[in-house]
Amino acid sequence: MGIAHTLDDVRSYWNEYVNDIEVTDYAVGSPEFFEALEKYRYEKIDYLRDYVGFENYKGKKVLEIGCGVGHDLMQFARAGADVSARDLTDNAVKLATANLAREGYTGDIQQGNAEALDIPDDTFDVVYSHGVLHHTVDTEKSIGEVHRVLKPGGEAIIMLYNRNSWLAFAAWVSGTNIEHADKDAPIIRKYSTRECRELFNAFTSVRIHVDRFPKRTLKFDNLFGKLNNYLLVPFFEILPDAIRRPLGWHIMIRANK
Ligand SMILES: C[S@@+](CC[C@H](N)C(=O)[O-])C[C@H]1O[C@@H](n2cnc3c(N)ncnc32)[C@H](O)[C@@H]1O
Repeated sequence: MGIAHTLDDVRSYWNEYVNDIEVTDYAVGSPEFFEALEKYRYEKIDYLRDYVGFENYKGKKVLEIGCGVGHDLMQFARAGADVSARDLTDNAVKLATANLAREGYTGDIQQGNAEALDIPDDTFDVVYSHGVLHHTVDTEKSIGEVHRVLKPGGEAIIMLYNRNSWLAFAAWVSGTNIEHADKDAPIIRKYSTRECRELFNAFTSVRIHVDRFPKRTLKFDNLFGKLNNYLLVPFFEILPDAIRRPLGWHIMIRANK
């Protein structure tokens, strides 16, 4: 039986292992640091800006859960959205606040828990969360919170990991971690697309898009990194879309309340 991890375990891991922090040597929190991480993010997650269409959310009240360094929050802010964010860690709150501030943006960015948000019912037009809710103790409870804080008709945009993906398979074959080479996140759940639909069954409409194929990694200088960079990246570039699409690592879920 696996160890039952607590929210404190999740918080202390993400406070230390800020997402992608190891891909740059610039001083943490410097403008160059944010620029390098942002560039890496949207090269790696190359579908994200087109899929989300951040520019369409001008004037909308947007909450990001688990904002990390705040790259996606920055996209919403640049588009003219009224942005708020909650993250378990004080490190993420500091970094996301500094990230937005370097372009003169502000928002209600605070420490908070996806499973018990300090936010009244029916508050937001959009609740966005990318790669977060599968790391918390009670994922179903956190999706209940997404639903609760959305206005009627409001939109959830959520990414959860795909169990049946190239990355889950490659990590298993090479025996490597998923989040960081030296230490993995305490909780990493993966779902099938059918399970994602079930998780969002309180919503009126649920649309699913699977994406995120192999891209050159700067994070893993081990067997997994080599397998990824020299085998999977070129192989997936020639695979027909009908074959590779279900194998993407990210299940993007768009659902309305
Ligand atoms: C993999 S990082 C993703 C960060 C960001 N969304 C991104 O895509 O770069 C996971 C983030 O989720 C946050 N997180 C995990 N569990 C959480 C919870 N229960 N409530 C709020 N944030 C949480 C972590 O602190 C961390 O910043």
